Amino acid sequence: MLRGPGDSFIPDGPLGTSIRRGRALLAATRDSLPAHVGNGLRCVSCHLDDGRRQSGSWVGVYVRYPQYRPRSATVETIEYRVNDCFRRSMNGTPLASDGPDMRDIVTYFWFLARDVPVAPVPPSSSRLAKWASLVPDTAAGARVYAASCARCHGPAGEGTAVAPPLWGPQSYNIGAGMSRVRTAAAFISENMPFDAPGSLTDQQAIDAAAFVNAQPRPDFPDKVHDWPNGDAPPDVAYPTHAKPHTGQPR
Ligand code: HEC
Ligand code: HEC
Repeated sequence: MLRGPGDSFIPDGPLGTSIRRGRALLAATRDSLPAHVGNGLRCVSCHLDDGRRQSGSWVGVYVRYPQYRPRSATVETIEYRVNDCFRRSMNGTPLASDGPDMRDIVTYFWFLARDVPVAPVPPSSSRLAKWASLVPDTAAGARVYAASCARCHGPAGEGTAVAPPLWGPQSYNIGAGMSRVRTAAAFISENMPFDAPGSLTDQQAIDAAAFVNAQPRPDFPDKVHDWPNGDAPPDVAYPTHAKPHTGQPR
């Protein structure tokens, strides 16, 4: 998988300063941009290793946009996509698309796309397909959580000095990608426990994801406008105007 260029490729001068400042904003998001962050997370809480880890990788993201996305049913720019994570994953408010903070974040993404070819984007449904064959068990997930997660994320998901919150008022909101069970299962399976990634079975990962996402978290009132063409994936946990929810979220 692509790890992106090393720091030796960061140029001297204003361009290099912008790259480094963008990376710093993504790592210290709440301290740097308090007016735009509504929870206890930072961008790299989920985009690990400064966005160089496989799940949620930012390597090449610059050349994957503009991109049509069914959640908004529009062609999204990279700035739009960044602001989606501010509004949902960070439970906050968008940056000005033409301001210096957005510019520096996008410049860091541009740097990470060095030598990455422009290519068609695989649909997220194909990346998440393997999770569709597993049935999540929330009660089993509570046991996985107690055994493998609580020591860092806290017994009530509130976060500790070593790991961010997983639910409650300081967590990602219901409209965030991570609130989808399959998306969370993929992240957990590849990255958690932080000190032993890959040690969970797929079943344990999806059970933990279902348990975490069954807990209370901030609402996202605009969620009713998501997937306006009615093509929401099955693990979306909320009804939309285009698709009233009938069964249990999974
Ligand atoms: C709670 C976890 C979480 C946090 C915090 C978070 N993100 Fe994300 N982000 C995701 C997930 C999940 C995706 C979808 C990943 C995928 O499709 O593989 C995503 C996708 C993205 C993408 C598009 C990636 C692509 O390949 O299309 C960008 C850009 C992005 N996030 C930027 C940010 C920025 C900037 C911040 C901080 C303001 C942030 N994210 C905070 C979870 C998070
Ligand atoms: C050894 C400590 C540790 C353990 C154990 C651990 N995590 Fe994490 N977790 C972390 C750290 C550290 C981060 C990323 C923090 C950062 O860099 O900002 C993280 C991030 C996360 C995130 C994304 C950010 C957020 O808070 O929403 C999720 C989801 C998550 N962990 C779930 C789990 C689950 C589920 C388990 C159990 C299977 C688990 N973790 C076990 C330390 C841990």
